[in-house]
Amino acid sequence: MPAPDTVHIQLPGDRNYEIRIGTGLLNEAASWQGLPKAAVAVIVSNETVAPLYADRLRDRLLGVYARVDVVVLPDGEQHKNWDSLNRICDHLLSQALDRKTVLFALGGGVIGDMTGFAAAIYMRGVPFVQVPTTLLAQVDSSVGGKTAINHPLGKNMLGAFYQPERVIADLDTLDTLPDRELRAGLAEVIKYGPIADASFLCWIEDNLDALLARDKAVLGYAVRRSCAIKADVVGQDEKEQGLRAILNFGHTIGHAIESGLGYGAWLHGEAVACGMVLAADLSQRMGLVPRAFVDRLRTLIERAGLPVQPPKLGAERYLQLMRVDKKAEAGAIRFVLIESLGRAGLHGVPDALIAETLVAHGAA
Ligand code: NAD
Ligand code: GLY
Repeated sequence: MPAPDTVHIQLPGDRNYEIRIGTGLLNEAASWQGLPKAAVAVIVSNETVAPLYADRLRDRLLGVYARVDVVVLPDGEQHKNWDSLNRICDHLLSQALDRKTVLFALGGGVIGDMTGFAAAIYMRGVPFVQVPTTLLAQVDSSVGGKTAINHPLGKNMLGAFYQPERVIADLDTLDTLPDRELRAGLAEVIKYGPIADASFLCWIEDNLDALLARDKAVLGYAVRRSCAIKADVVGQDEKEQGLRAILNFGHTIGHAIESGLGYGAWLHGEAVACGMVLAADLSQRMGLVPRAFVDRLRTLIERAGLPVQPPKLGAERYLQLMRVDKKAEAGAIRFVLIESLGRAGLHGVPDALIAETLVAHGAA
């Protein structure tokens, strides 16, 4: 079994942590050593992932902790809410678990975000470890300490910045991931090219077929490079005072699609993919990038089997939804736009121009 690759995330204080990426990590002991000591560890997972991997993780953790509980939540973005969060807290409190208890988030971004939020608020903070099992979670959501639940009025609106102790990404878990979920994860991989690394965009274009065919070595590089870019950005701006916003390229329209259609109708990665096409189009309309860049990104997203045509919610409804975006200021919608290939920034965009883009893409 090859040794895992490690990406380091550097944060102020003693909060640096490792992202371990490799195959077979759920079957070996080394990656699970050196975590905070506790009487009890609690695995939080869902009804899809727990039957696949919870026993294996539990076996690993019983080499470290005397007792390991498993909390199984319903599956789906529509369950990323107070009810699920309460179910985690109910377990912790009903078992009188102390503030040293370590939580393990075993699943995709939904489980990771909710478990992280529960860890942030239980007794004002207990340690947690991310064990991401989707491509999207391995390349993005498990890294960087954004935790949240959704509100019917807005995506990820309730949450906290709270960093994990470690991220352990076993590439073998991707073997059981449905194709649609793999493609959704590719959206967040593609995102890193335009915002931070033009050569990574070329690499994705060259290796897309191998990624879709789940070539493990190619997937491993995509996860490592994505995590390295994200770790660098988060290390510079943990709480999104500026730079970190670039990681939200495609998310302003993406989140509007998710909450506008009802959580779970489109996958997060699908909504982000379509949002990137429209944000690239806006970048061109703002005079930042040539039309050829928009066409190039759209072609790649289409090749990845991701949607490029937004749902027809109407311009007014889109604008209303986007005013609840976390990047909005005093009701003014702000977009992450591509300034040149590999560089992005936050820009105010006039409503009329947003409406123009929405109309041009059949969304209004
Ligand atoms: P998800 O967590 O809903 O997982 C997708 C589906 O795959 C689910 O049905 C899940 O049960 C299933 N699944 C997970 N692992 C599997 C496996 N190995 N085999 C088979 N099935 C498996 O969705 P996601 O795409 O992982 O995450 C999306 C969420 O992440 C959204 O809520 C989004 O807001 C959030 N997110 C957060 C951040 C962050 O920085 N915190 C970044 C990006 C996205
Ligand atoms: N996925 C956006 C961020 O972590 O900031």
